[in-house]
This record gives sequence, structure tokens and C-alpha cells, in this order.
Amino acid sequence: DDNQLKKIAGHAKEYGFIFQSSEIYDGLSAAYDYGQNGVELKNNIKQYWWKAMVQMNENIVGIDTSIFMHPTTWKASGHVDAFNDPMIDNKDSKKRYRADVLVEEYLDKIEAKITKEIEKAEKRFGDTFDKEQFMATNPNVLRNQAKMDEISQRLGNSLETENLADVKALIEELGIADPVSGSKNWTDVRQFNLMFSTEMGSVAEGASKIYLRPETAQGIFVNFLNVQKSGRMKVPFGIAQIGKAFRNEIIARQFIFRMREFEQMEMQFFVKPGEELTWYESWKEKRIKWHKALGLGDENYRFHDHINLAHYANAAADIQFNFPMGFKELEGIHSRTDFDLKAHEEHSGKKLQFFDSVENESFVPYVVETSIGLDRMFLAVLSAAYTEETLADGSERTVLKLPAALAPYQVAILPLLKKEDSGLPQKAREILAELQFDFNCQYDEKDAIGKRYRRQDAIGTPYCVTIDHQTLEDNTVTIRDRDDLSQIRISIDELKAKLTEVTSI
Ligand code: GAP
Repeated sequence: DDNQLKKIAGHAKEYGFIFQSSEIYDGLSAAYDYGQNGVELKNNIKQYWWKAMVQMNENIVGIDTSIFMHPTTWKASGHVDAFNDPMIDNKDSKKRYRADVLVEEYLDKIEAKITKEIEKAEKRFGDTFDKEQFMATNPNVLRNQAKMDEISQRLGNSLETENLADVKALIEELGIADPVSGSKNWTDVRQFNLMFSTEMGSVAEGASKIYLRPETAQGIFVNFLNVQKSGRMKVPFGIAQIGKAFRNEIIARQFIFRMREFEQMEMQFFVKPGEELTWYESWKEKRIKWHKALGLGDENYRFHDHINLAHYANAAADIQFNFPMGFKELEGIHSRTDFDLKAHEEHSGKKLQFFDSVENESFVPYVVETSIGLDRMFLAVLSAAYTEETLADGSERTVLKLPAALAPYQVAILPLLKKEDSGLPQKAREILAELQFDFNCQYDEKDAIGKRYRRQDAIGTPYCVTIDHQTLEDNTVTIRDRDDLSQIRISIDELKAKLTEVTSI
């Protein structure tokens, strides 16, 4: 729920994961800064993705393209003409909304009514309740279902044909009120392009309007031939990239779920026409496996197949994650056909084809894309990890049960005492020097040991290595496990091997 999301955002701020952008100026909405712990977690997520996609696949290579691209790129990709949201303003509150979302929220309310009706009947009939039978015969359910179908069909048609006057008419007919003020005094619906633009070159020279990229994918498409030729790549092959993308989102709330500046991790897989749907299925499989391997709970993932396909796609699905706000899109897997490469051929006048030397023919490859928001992945990891616990001794703690490989620090090195003459800090620093090449380590000697354990719990450090008086006698240390709080004593000689074993995915 929203409360849970607020708690997570509060924790993320308090422990140096995420700050509101420009906070001293009261913040800039839908822009966030990653703090000292956040940047480590974020880098680890990137690395986990890059390893799986690029390093573990012989036929996938990475690139890093610029945010600014030739303006014609966005004409070809369809973003100049079609990357729009239909907006409506309330004349009284002066608040702006996405018109389609207003209607969808109305539909949600009808759906909630249906659910309530079903729950009521379920209670009344108990074990003998046949849900399907009930839904097919109950007049209230049928009426509401028909109403929902009618509204969503009309909304879909109006948006598809860009009949914005009808979208407004629909909002008025349904009596939809501004959720803030309750007013029903609406402006016309207008299309609002989501791309940010700026000017390149000085004004005197005649500056040209350019866009901040709204997806990283186009940097890959325009480099298709460069990479294929210089890398002597053979279809099927993939190109991956991690980078910033920008969208002037209107409804930008829910913490880092929807931002105006965010990062994407995208991979375009180029295949022979006709083979795209087989590859599409196989990438769906691979990607869900990748997610589940992190151990955030298999039940937190589900596929959502798109019924209304974008103009460039012949199949598309989202991997949804169970965020505090419910199941929402985390990653998209799209079979994009040859739409993008063909469009760039047309607009650039250059051929973007692969020559198949076996078949002795050239073709424009089809593309299967996997696209995940890095920040959204961060939120998924953070919200699954955030745990409030009451311990056996009755004390309470907030702990981030992060996958060990993603945690900002894998190991905390804690001398029991801070005093130099105890000999413990010196010994602890020796161990730190041994480990810090292989693990991200944090050294902490301030405050009582219990307090230090809690601090490490709060930032998700899976293992604490404590150096005490016995260490000086027999060269052993204790390793404390963040999740089950167990402590084992181990020889320093075995420490590295043990930590390697427990921190790998
Ligand atoms: N190249 C395909 C593409 O960009 P998309 O579904 O528009 O597809 C892909 O975006 C992913 O990028 C989404 O699944 C989501 O994780 C992330 N994303 C999109 N818009 C975002 C935003 N405003 N803030 C954070 N992440 C976003």
C-alpha cells in the first residue's frame, strides 16, 4: 500500500539510498538522486544484468550510445508523431490529468463493485459457491461487466482514431470528477508529447531542436550495421545497452516507479524474419528465470500479455512485479518486427540489412527486445527486501534482506573495540586489506557492537565479521548472518573462501 511505499522511501532517505533531487530547493518532482548506498546497489544491479546479458552470451555485445541523436531518428521511430498522452485539465483546480487514466480509474471502481458482489455471494453460499456460474448469471454483475466492456471499447476506439473530442465526451457522460476538487469542469483533451526537447548550436547560427532520448533502443538500431560489421556478428545476435532515458511523464508519482529521468537496460536481438516468435518465447523464459534467480520470491512475478499491440509489435508481454502498490510492469519483452530498421532505412536512405552468406541473400532482421527500467528494478529489490521484525528478545529491527550479491556492502568489518591499545583495530584493518579487493567492505568501529549490527541490517549488509580478543589469540573471527542472526567462529585463513561461497548468486 501507499503507506508501505512511504516507509520504504523514508528508509531509503535515512540510510543514504535515495534522495529527492534538489531537496534544499524543496525538490524537483519525479527526479531522484542515488546516495552513497544507493549507487552501490544500483551498480550491482547493472552488473548482474550486464553479466547475464552480455558476458554470458557469446552472441550479445554491449554498446553505449549518446543521449542526443539526430532529430530524424525520432521521426523514423514514430516518437515525434505518436509518443503522446491525451491530457485534460480541470478548469477549477487547474490540475492536469491523463484523460485515459481518468476513465481507467472509473473502470477500476466498477470492477471493485463486481468484486464486492462476488465476495458477498461467496460468503452467503460458502463451499457450494460456483464463481463462474455466478458471474455468468447474476444480473448486477452482468450489467456492470457490460458497462465496463462498452466504456473500454469506446475509449480504445477514440484513442486509436485520435478522436479526442469523444474522449472528453466520454468523461463528461460518465460524470467523472476531478479527484482533488470534485469539479466536473473540464477543458478539451489535447495530445501531449512525452519527449523533452532542447536546442543544439547557438541561436545565431540557427539552432536546431533536438530531443533527449525517450528510450535507449534507438541508439542500438542506428548502430546495427556498425556493430554487425565491426564485430562480424551473425544473425541471430544481440546488442545491449544501459543508459539514461527521459520522458515528460504527467503522472509521475509512486517514488522511483515513474520518473522523468530514468535508466533503462535494453537488449535488441536481431533474428531471421519468421523466427521472431520462437525467439520471443525463449526471451520471455530467460528473462523471468533471471528475475527469479535473485530469490525475491517467485510468487512476486507474473506475465501480462498485451492484447492491444503497439503499431510496431506482433507480440508483447510485460513481466510484472508485486510492488507495494500491487502488480505493475517491471520489464517489457516485445517482438518489434522489422519496423525500426525499415523506418531508419527509409529516413536515412541507407541499407540496414544482413547478408546471409549461406542462403546468399540479404534481409532486414526482425527484432525481439527486452527492456527493463533500472530504477524500477531497484524499487522491486528494495521493496522485497524491506522487513520490519520483532526479534526473540522482544527488540525490533528494520532490515533489508537484499540478495547478498546486490547489497551495497557484502561484508562489514567490525573490531569489538575502537581503542588502539586493544590491538583490535589494527587486526581488523589487516583483514579489511585482505578482503576489500574481492568484496565491497565497510569498516566501522563507532558505537557499541549491537548498534553497529543494526546499522548494517538497515543497509542490508549480509555478513558482519567481528574481531575480538580471541582473534588475537587464535586467529579466528565471528561471522554474523544478517537474516538468521547466527554467529559462527571461523579461522581467518578460511574467511575469504567462506564469504565467496555465501555471497555468490
Ligand atoms: N524500448 C522499449 C521501451 O522503452 P517501455 O515499456 O516504454 O518500452 C521499458 O519501457 C521499461 O522502462 C519499462 O518496463 C519500465 O521498467 C521502464 N520505464 C519506462 N518509463 C519509465 C519511467 N517514467 N520511470 C521509470 N522507469 C520507466
